[in-house]
Amino acid sequence: MKVLFLNGPNLNLLGQREPEVYGRTTLADIEANVRKEAKALKVEIDFRQSNLEGQLVDWIQAAKGEFDVIVINAAAYTHTSIALRDAISAVGIPTIEIHLSNVHAREKFRHKSLIAPVCCGQITGFGANSYILAVQASVNVNAKPDGGKKR
Ligand code: DQA
Repeated sequence: MKVLFLNGPNLNLLGQREPEVYGRTTLADIEANVRKEAKALKVEIDFRQSNLEGQLVDWIQAAKGEFDVIVINAAAYTHTSIALRDAISAVGIPTIEIHLSNVHAREKFRHKSLIAPVCCGQITGFGANSYILAVQASVNVNAKPDGGKKR
């Protein structure tokens, strides 16, 4: 199983950026922890960050046939980008939306995610641990809500 982790704008500043909201863990630390968890779960990962919307779109498009799951922290583009939503929809790769902060407990403009309707689910508000939960969710992304039991 191959999982592509994508990180959007300003996430390269984690550690120094609004630590009261995002914590003091850097993106490099998060990547290291994700790699550890992925190894334990026998998942192969690629971990990328860009401040550019078009770069993220290009990576999503190129993921087709290469990755089984995409995990995306689209950062501010979550709330603005029809292009990212269309790219996720176009490639049809199961995609998990994640955030460090609880976007629903913050400003109103963060409550709306344009990508949520084309994602399998959303992990939001667990700080750096949102990324670890996403590795675990990736492994089970095709699991049915009832564990596949017959009703
Ligand atoms: C974020 C939440 C977004 O609203 C914000 O624009 C970010 C980070 C998070 O991880 O909590 O840049 O995606």
